[in-house]
Amino acid sequence: MNDVSEPSSLAQPSDHLDPLFLRACRGEAVETTPIWIMRQAGRYLPEYRRVRKDVDFLTLCHTPDLATEVTLQPIRRFGLDASILFSDIMVPVEAMGVEVAFNPGPVIQNPVRSEEAIKALGRPDPTNTMGFVLQTVKNLRRELPPSVALIGFAGAPFTMAAYMVEGGASKDFAALKSLMFQDSIAFHALMEKLSLVVGDYLLAQIEAGAQAVQLFDTWAGLLSPTDYKEFVFPHVQSLIKRVKSPGVPFILYGNGTGGLLELMDQTGADVIGLDWRLEIEQALPRLSEGRVVQGNLDPSVLFAPPSIIQDQAARILQQIKPGQGHIFNLGHGISRHTPVEAVETLVTFVHDEGRRLRSSKAAEA
Ligand code: CP3
Repeated sequence: MNDVSEPSSLAQPSDHLDPLFLRACRGEAVETTPIWIMRQAGRYLPEYRRVRKDVDFLTLCHTPDLATEVTLQPIRRFGLDASILFSDIMVPVEAMGVEVAFNPGPVIQNPVRSEEAIKALGRPDPTNTMGFVLQTVKNLRRELPPSVALIGFAGAPFTMAAYMVEGGASKDFAALKSLMFQDSIAFHALMEKLSLVVGDYLLAQIEAGAQAVQLFDTWAGLLSPTDYKEFVFPHVQSLIKRVKSPGVPFILYGNGTGGLLELMDQTGADVIGLDWRLEIEQALPRLSEGRVVQGNLDPSVLFAPPSIIQDQAARILQQIKPGQGHIFNLGHGISRHTPVEAVETLVTFVHDEGRRLRSSKAAEA
């Protein structure tokens, strides 16, 4: 252990057994800002493309050794503080009995649009139907360095429903909204079933060793605050209440959800993930005191030269006041066209600048 002969108000970098990422999620004083990147394992990495050359995406998700390997790829390359299980938000949808293909996003030939189709959906036992995911979690806890936290994840009920009802991505999600507004009973039944399935699934990931969990609500931004409150909020709130486990931070990520912040804040999530369409300093006054935030660099900034990447990251870090918990991330998943060097630049800069800002603020105090 460290010889702490000189007390200091600044948290010290050390051989902490408690990963930096988890301490930051809990809002503790940390030595620098942790960073991970949504979709950090993926096609911008040549080593991922080499694995994908021989297997399709679903096979990759279904094979623990391969899923473990691609999860570890970005960890080997960059000094990231957290690792996210490699899988997809549609894996539990398959387990519910719906056929899912990828091209490259999810495609469902027989969308779920009627009361009967919703009734026919199963509530799969994660151990029996998604044991491959749980095995990947176990492999990763064995393989990851103790300083790197493992994040489990699932799609939020609304985002899963979006793909299930629409059959794939869409500009306006007219079929989804038709079901929601024309047959709200069926829509709520679908959301309730998805909340149960996602809850079972996240609890199983935690049991297998996930140290934090993130719920991806990529399409929640399609809704007005009033409709989010009626159709989504109660389901997310009960899901979080059920899944929240001592010491396992719950992160709720939304895309295009600037209008929904106050509601997302009230769901019970520990950390709110923000996209880049609002400044963190605009978001903070709309969240509870002490709420930890994650984000929020525009993924396209990674196409710019290093000096611009650094300026943009610095602008975000400067908005975080002492005592405010923050995990650095992009505002959405990384693009497949991102140069690998841009990620190196970002990770190094966030750690260095996070450390520098803390020591200069401590010197001022
Ligand atoms: O973050 C990670 O590294 C973990 C893996 C992960 C993937 N998808 C792998 C993936 C995670 C956390 C997801 C979540 C996911 N999947 C979301 C929520 C986050 C978001 O991006 O909004 C959504 C909406 C999906 C559904 C999905 N799956 C889409 C839209 C796509 C197409 C993506 C694209 O870039 O074109 C997928 C396929 C997918 N999921 C890929 C990967 C690496 C690309 C598949 C390939 O190799 O061909």
